[in-house]
Amino acid sequence: MAIPAEEVAQVRAATDIVGLIGEHVALKKQGRRWSGLCPFHSEKTPSFSVNAEEGLFYCFGCQKSGDAISFVREVQGMDFVDSVRLLADRAGITLHEDADGPDRKDRAQILDAMEKAVDFYHQRLLTNPDAGAARSYLRSRGYDGELIKAFRLGWAPDEWDALSQHLKVNEKILEGAGLGFVNKASRQQDFLRARVVFPICDPASRAIAIGGRILPPLPGSPPPERHEPKYKNSPETAIYSKRRTLYGLNWAKKNIIESGEIIVCEGYTDVIAFFQAGMPRAVATCGTALGEEHFSLMRNFAKKIILAYDADAAGQSATGRVYEWESKHEVDVAVCELPAGTDPAELGRSDPEALKAAVKDAKPFLKFRVDRALSLADLESPEGRAKAAEGALAAVAEHPDALVRDQYVISIADRCRLDPQLVRERLQAHVAGERSAPEPKGRRRSEEPPPRDEPQDGDDESVAPASAIVDRPGLEALRIAVHYPELVVNRLEPFFFLDSDQRGAFEALLSSTSLAEAIESSSTRASALLRRVAVEEPMIDPESEIDQVSPVISQLLRGAARKALVDLQADLRQGSVEVAEGSRQVALAHAALEELDDPDSGSAAEATLVAWLSSRGAQNET
Ligand code: UTP
Ligand code: MN
Repeated sequence: MAIPAEEVAQVRAATDIVGLIGEHVALKKQGRRWSGLCPFHSEKTPSFSVNAEEGLFYCFGCQKSGDAISFVREVQGMDFVDSVRLLADRAGITLHEDADGPDRKDRAQILDAMEKAVDFYHQRLLTNPDAGAARSYLRSRGYDGELIKAFRLGWAPDEWDALSQHLKVNEKILEGAGLGFVNKASRQQDFLRARVVFPICDPASRAIAIGGRILPPLPGSPPPERHEPKYKNSPETAIYSKRRTLYGLNWAKKNIIESGEIIVCEGYTDVIAFFQAGMPRAVATCGTALGEEHFSLMRNFAKKIILAYDADAAGQSATGRVYEWESKHEVDVAVCELPAGTDPAELGRSDPEALKAAVKDAKPFLKFRVDRALSLADLESPEGRAKAAEGALAAVAEHPDALVRDQYVISIADRCRLDPQLVRERLQAHVAGERSAPEPKGRRRSEEPPPRDEPQDGDDESVAPASAIVDRPGLEALRIAVHYPELVVNRLEPFFFLDSDQRGAFEALLSSTSLAEAIESSSTRASALLRRVAVEEPMIDPESEIDQVSPVISQLLRGAARKALVDLQADLRQGSVEVAEGSRQVALAHAALEELDDPDSGSAAEATLVAWLSSRGAQNET
């Protein structure tokens, strides 16, 4: 089931990679590229870069790189063919595959059925007479027409098969979408009946699931014959994974990025309440507990995660795990304290200002836990205070940062009326008992210092690792060659590059008509390097009056010349070069190196070195 290469290329070209990646990561424009937090590893400062023109991404932190197709492969965990299909769908391109894969066709049809279902339910709610009770229920909750449209709320009528009749899809698609099933009488039956419908979307706003809420019983009506759950949610399907989905993210994304914070609550109605209260940055888990995958999704959008659970739930919410994820994903988790017995939906309705204040006053997760441990204890008796301190310290000990931990020592000591030194010692005992703390986060900077003037042979190890010094002029030269090739035309040669990947990358550039072709034609490592430099801005300013390219070239040349001199010495010792000839070359190279940075004779020296190096290269090859 191969996809023809030209169609793959067509899909690649038709994909807006910034838009695509922007569905997963907050991207900001910086010069000619876009940058954001890498979706493939944890980081606090953005080292992930996208080059829109070339359709490439690169992460300076974890070195992941690729194009739109590899991005989809990575984030969606899909294979190459499926990734191309997904992008083709997005771009509206019809692929001419040899045989149509059933999975992919199903997925597309399931998405399509879901979209139609959401639309059907929405129209029923807006216009159908049988939705009167649903409309007045929603109105009673303060939902007006605009809000109903914004969240695409719907009404699943009180009928067995209204949706199934409308969709007219086969059993496989109906069940595959979780919208219905075939009953004992071999007839298609709807999954939802007489429920208000909340569509659940992916970050690109495609409907992937639905949640349906029953209407509350009318006052004075008899209790229902059988117990129905308040909410019925779509099952997991080919297009819907609960662990990876956050209700509302598609609508909240923009404000989350702008504000830098994301509010996590428990229910659809809580999310809507935050929007109504002027905080359109709330999301909800979909009938599952907050888990690891939610965190790896959220951390791409905001660093501050505010939990806004029911007052009772907040204390219990997967506390230990949240704590662990906080450090693992490098986000700050805060907890919103709501008055006992209310949820955000209720508070938002009764007192929106109080809801706002609760978000504003959200406590850091650790403080919340410490306060909670202390508030649950009996602080009246010495035993009670000691126990409270132990409980609070257990929470504090889990924090990876000793400076943060120590700040809690004083407050715990004060509140439990204990000697701070004693509390500190107890904390040490707790910390020692903890499993080994996470690694300190040494992170690569996303930008390198400008090229240095030192020779690049790596004898200056005190400044940076040898490899970094060797890397720099070569990388900069590659950047210039990719972004401003006119500045280095005929001035760079493959033998300037000591690093074999850099050399390979440059050779590929020389023999290709486009960057894409060079990437395709070079080795894995060289092509990764090219994808990287494609998203890097050269450090030189191409507009500058001052010649900034020559120093880069001379630095590269110096490195190559020094290496050649070392080789020449070896040749002399081995007698493979005549002493007289060897000495002549050494003298010539030294003289040229000396004049390399001279404004008058620099370019002649450059030419001399290039000629010498290329003659040595030619000799070595024979
Ligand atoms: P809640 O019972 O708190 O509902 O459940 P809610 O969101 O506050 O709804 P309203 O305001 O009473 O209308 C919170 C979430 O738990 C899931 C749903 O995702 C819901 O939004 N849930 C709840 C279910 O999946 N099934 C249920 O029967 C109840
Ligand atoms: Mn609730």
